Amino acid sequence: VRHLLGIKEITPQDIQLIFETADQFKEVLNRPIKKVPSLRDVTIANVFFENSTRTKLSFELAEKRLSADVINFSASGSSVKKGETLLDTVNNILSMKVDMIVMRHSSPGAPHFLSRKIQANIVNAGDGTHEHPTQALLDSFSIRQKLGEVAGKKIAIIGDITHSRVALSNIFALQMQGAEVAVCGPPTLLPKHIGDLGVKIFWNVREALQWCDVANVLRIQLERQQGKLFPSLREYALYFGINKKMLDELDKEIVLMHPGPINRGVELTSDAADSHHSIILDQVENGVAIRMAVLYLLASKG
Ligand code: CP
Repeated sequence: VRHLLGIKEITPQDIQLIFETADQFKEVLNRPIKKVPSLRDVTIANVFFENSTRTKLSFELAEKRLSADVINFSASGSSVKKGETLLDTVNNILSMKVDMIVMRHSSPGAPHFLSRKIQANIVNAGDGTHEHPTQALLDSFSIRQKLGEVAGKKIAIIGDITHSRVALSNIFALQMQGAEVAVCGPPTLLPKHIGDLGVKIFWNVREALQWCDVANVLRIQLERQQGKLFPSLREYALYFGINKKMLDELDKEIVLMHPGPINRGVELTSDAADSHHSIILDQVENGVAIRMAVLYLLASKG
């Protein structure tokens, strides 16, 4: 594998190898000196055409912990605003002797398109509503860390499934590892053919919470809905929002996850997001080790 374009393109064995490599990098990250020389001769460009906090910083930190040289590109403030194309932008960056591209783009398939045009390794850091493979890897890795294994666990993905790249990558990754997956949300935010992916469907959030071992709660992606949000945020919060009392009242302990950014008071109340049920900040912490593993493995294959 030369690129990480999506979970769909990798195997359960690849996931296992990424997790075992990330385990070793987690040990490194817990040492006083957190840096290793593994990518000392590698130059990586983080090319972000969409906003990001966690993914961008976590890739940059992972690259620096691996001793790579790093350059960062954001579309805002760049010559994209003067009309330069994606391919011209990336080819100009590559001509500066860059080896790997980590890219986030609003168009589904943008990294796949690039992979057919350029020689450098590409890591998809989120392509529109399509895939966000490193997020799914760090989510599964966090479940494995908390519950021992992913196989056999019941994971409910709750929220705006239609506009979420995190949902699709998680469904592929979790099923590949032998988990049972359900989705839950209002019908307007569930894709029409989602059942074809072999997932269970819940329209009632309390039933989904009662069924699952892990609730991975997603944000309502207002930026992808062109002002046509139905239900409204208030209605969504009323019928699908999760609070701590709902989690405390279950007759079992479940794990609460969220990829961020959280719309506090919409999909999660603060008392739920900040409760003992939540592993949200562990997910962020694990993102660095997972991204170190992905970059290291891709660079090792040349
Ligand atoms: N989870 C995630 O992709 O967050 P950012 O958009 O902040 O990178």
